Amino acid sequence: PRVAVIVVAAGSGTRLAGGAPKAFVGIDGSSILRHALDGIAAAPPAQVVIVVPSGREGDARTEALSVFGDRNELVTVVAGGATRQQSVAAGLAALWADVDTVLVHDAARALTPPAVFARVIDEVRRSGAGVIPMRPVVDTLKRVADAVVTEAVDRTPLVAAQTPQGFPRAALEDAYARAGAEHTDDAALFAAAGHEVRTVDGDDLSFKITTPADLDRARHLLRSGAP
Ligand code: C5P
Repeated sequence: PRVAVIVVAAGSGTRLAGGAPKAFVGIDGSSILRHALDGIAAAPPAQVVIVVPSGREGDARTEALSVFGDRNELVTVVAGGATRQQSVAAGLAALWADVDTVLVHDAARALTPPAVFARVIDEVRRSGAGVIPMRPVVDTLKRVADAVVTEAVDRTPLVAAQTPQGFPRAALEDAYARAGAEHTDDAALFAAAGHEVRTVDGDDLSFKITTPADLDRARHLLRSGAP
């Protein structure tokens, strides 16, 4: 297949308070975006679309050049929107004509191992469905109303969804064209359009860097040799 990875990196990073849009905050010597691109460059797809805040396109091209070097012509950089869903839509509009499989990935999941990308691509190819990487839920879950526990929730059938989420291109474009409301993720939008979504194993290293504590965790993991 001809695979494109859309890396959404247009979030503001308000919760991270890193002094820059989140993707441009440094983990070690390298930014969150650069680490995310490193994971993709290990097995480069046909196209990488990087979606960044308007005005940051040049910075993204510089980061991409340092990662992809003379293969940099596979990179497209576009400006994102006010919501993640709008940013993904901007990325979809920039896909090359011959791309048939699309992975949508949060730059904030900067340490995602290359093997997760491979598992998602293989399962999209095998099944023709949408595919999400998932982890089991480890916390004990409760349903709560007005600060009172109303029910214990059985976590056995529940999973936590990660990215990259993979889709056949035509079906994903169809789902985006029909999406009325904002959805929690691309898989939810895809399912709302009537398409099947399957799962593969995710990875604990694919956690999303959201808070300063998440950034500390990523720094610690990199110092101890991850991913
Ligand atoms: O805000 P949150 O952590 O859920 O964002 C997940 C991913 O979506 C991040 O990589 C962020 O940069 C991206 N995003 C985006 N455009 C937005 C909001 C978030 O590309 N408007």
